[in-house]
Amino acid sequence: VIRADLLAGPGKVALMNFIGDRPAMVFASPTVSRIFGDELRDLAMQLRSWNNELITIQTTEQNKTLQTVEAILTKAQSRYFGRNGVFIGVGGGVLLDIVGLAAGLFRRGVAQVRIGTTLLAQVDAAIGIKSGVNVGKAKNLAGLFSPPELVVTDGRFLSTLPQRHIRCGLAEMIKLALVRDEALFTAIETDGHQLLLESRNSETSQRLVDQAIRGMIGELEPNAYETELQRVVDFGHTISPRLESDTNFQLHHGEAVAIDLVYFCIVGQVLGMLKQDAVLRIVALLDRLGIPRWHELLANLDFIASALDAAQAHRGGQLHLPIPTRIGAAQFVSDRRNLTGIVLKEASEIGRVL
Ligand SMILES: NC(=O)c1ccc[n+]([C@@H]2O[C@H](COP(=O)([O-])OP(=O)(O)OC[C@H]3O[C@@H](n4cnc5c(N)ncnc54)[C@H](O)[C@@H]3O)[C@@H](O)[C@H]2O)c1
Repeated sequence: VIRADLLAGPGKVALMNFIGDRPAMVFASPTVSRIFGDELRDLAMQLRSWNNELITIQTTEQNKTLQTVEAILTKAQSRYFGRNGVFIGVGGGVLLDIVGLAAGLFRRGVAQVRIGTTLLAQVDAAIGIKSGVNVGKAKNLAGLFSPPELVVTDGRFLSTLPQRHIRCGLAEMIKLALVRDEALFTAIETDGHQLLLESRNSETSQRLVDQAIRGMIGELEPNAYETELQRVVDFGHTISPRLESDTNFQLHHGEAVAIDLVYFCIVGQVLGMLKQDAVLRIVALLDRLGIPRWHELLANLDFIASALDAAQAHRGGQLHLPIPTRIGAAQFVSDRRNLTGIVLKEASEIGRVL
């Protein structure tokens, strides 16, 4: 992972040197193409990418499908793209997931470079080795572990990112802080708002983003292929996939994560695992940053039960539910029987009025 001024100067040269004389295909979402098109086309040209072209793909959750991946494979094949080639994804988590999966599948795997242009992608989606697409209503059901060769972080992309998406990234940063890094949590309390300012690509913001990236790498690296299914970074990702899909993706990924994480902090409080003071401190931070933390679906215990069923299947038959025991540490609740209807209902009632 490198931080570099990608669109001009040394970052571009570093990327070009890295790619060398390998063929490249550069992909971006429509918004990123619109805002950064000239610079990215210039980059594509200098990389001698196929047709000197910047390839734009639709990147809504509804387009995050095997069909979109197939369209990329077909396009690459039609241009005799070789197995020495490199797919370069420039975009948010949706684009990186699509391009990452296409890279993992094309001729059984070609190299990929991930350039995250949303905060969420920079602190999370770009630096993992997973990629996946939705199948029907099931989020990320079809996917691969397909490690990028290089990840480039450029804070300049954040300056055009709508605040709603900055908040999504902050939610993922808070998730990570809660389960492993109290210092990161404190840093977000002090400086998180800077990412929402016009001047958001400040040194302070970059430091904060880098701290989150380092923490995420530290967490993912020892278990990159998820042979261990107890993962603290699954915190915030238990019922959030269903929150996203059941709202027809009106809730963005980071928003669903925030709502999920607050709910399970409250569950922790009800179970006596997490003190109420900590829950209030977490809620205060989310409120200060304007991050949503409640959705009416949480009042529906059938919804929660079926979302827990889906999470349990994904985690190999056990719940492996991470719950913070204080800010910066977590334990797992693996036995579903601990989550009785009474516990879930009490948590919903607290969450609704908090
Ligand atoms: N593979 C992984 O490990 C992993 C991890 C976390 C999340 N994800 C996935 O990531 C997705 C969410 O990603 P996201 O939050 O980045 O959303 P996103 O990819 O939908 O991007 C959000 C919006 O911002 C626009 N955008 C991107 N960069 C911009 C910029 N610099 N300026 C202005 N607009 C810009 C995009 O075009 C899009 O409309 C989900 O599908 C989630 O499942 C994957």
